[in-house]
Amino acid sequence: MSLETSESHDPSPEEVRAARAKADAKRADAIAARIDAAKSSPPSASRSWDARDALDACERLFRDHPGSLIRERCRDEIFTPSKGRDDGSSSEHVRDLVYGEFGFMSLAALFRKYSDQIPPRAVVADLGSGVGRPLFAAACLRPDLARCVGVEKLGGLHELAGELGALYDAELAPVLGAEPPRVELHRGDFLHGVEWRGANVVLVNSAIFSDELFEKTEARAAEVLSPGALVVTLRRGFADCGHEGACWELLEATERRQSWGMSTVYVHRRTQNSPRRAGIED
Ligand SMILES: C[S@@+](CC[C@H](N)C(=O)[O-])C[C@H]1O[C@@H](n2cnc3c(N)ncnc32)[C@H](O)[C@@H]1O
Repeated sequence: MSLETSESHDPSPEEVRAARAKADAKRADAIAARIDAAKSSPPSASRSWDARDALDACERLFRDHPGSLIRERCRDEIFTPSKGRDDGSSSEHVRDLVYGEFGFMSLAALFRKYSDQIPPRAVVADLGSGVGRPLFAAACLRPDLARCVGVEKLGGLHELAGELGALYDAELAPVLGAEPPRVELHRGDFLHGVEWRGANVVLVNSAIFSDELFEKTEARAAEVLSPGALVVTLRRGFADCGHEGACWELLEATERRQSWGMSTVYVHRRTQNSPRRAGIED
C-alpha cells in the first residue's frame, strides 16, 4: 500500500497577486456584460415591491461581489501601514476600520417602524459605508427616497462600492420607478465631510468604533443634522440623551441581527436643542 503525498503549498506573494489580477479582470468582464445587458434590454419599473423583493434585488446586485472579496479588500488596508489610517500605528484606528454589515432584516424593521417619520424624497446616509450594502438596501426598501449617501475612508472598499453603484444605476434603479433614489458613494472621513449634512436618517455601524470615534460622531451629528433627523447606532447609544436641553431623544434600544450576529440597535431623534461646540471644522 502506498501513501498519497500532497503537493500543496502556501502560495507566494506573486501567485496571490496573479490570482487577484485574474479575479479582478473576470469581475470587470462580468460587470461590463451586466451593464451592457441592462442597456440593451432596459429593466422596467416593478408594479408591486415588498421587503422580499428588496432582499432578492440586493442579493442579485451583489452576485459578483461575495463577502470573501469584501473582507479581503478590508484586510489589505487595515494591515498595510499608512493606507486608510491617519497614523498607521494605533490599534484603535485598526479597530475603527474592521468590517461587518448592518443586517438586511434589521434595516427592513427600521424602515417599517419609522416609515411615518421618514418623508418621501428623504435622504439616508451611512457613515463608514463600506461597499454600500445598507444604502442599496435602503433604496430598495424605500424607493421614494431622493438620495442614499455613503462616506467611506478605505480606498479598496470605495472602489468596490463604485462598481456596485454602476450596477445599481444600470440594473436596479430603473426597476425602482421613474424617480429612483440616487446612490452617492463618497470617499473620505465622515467627521470632516459635509456630504451628509441635513440627512433625514443616518446609519452608523458603530459596533466596533473606538470611544473617541463614537464620541466625535455624536458631536458631529448634533452639528450637521436638523431637528427630527433619526440616527441609528450599534452597540452603544449617544450620551447627550434623556435630560433637559439634550440634543438627542432615544426612541429605542433593541437587539437585532447584523452580519456578524446580534447587536443592540439604538435609534435617536435629533431634538431642537443647540449642540455644544465640538471643534470639528468642515
Ligand atoms: C463596520 S463597517 C460598516 C460598513 C457599512 N456601514 C455596513 O454596515 O455595511 C465600518 C466602516 O466604517 C469605515 N470608517 C471608520 N471610520 C471612518 C471615518 N472616520 N470616515 C469614513 N469611514 C470610516 C471603515 O473603513 C468601515 O468600512
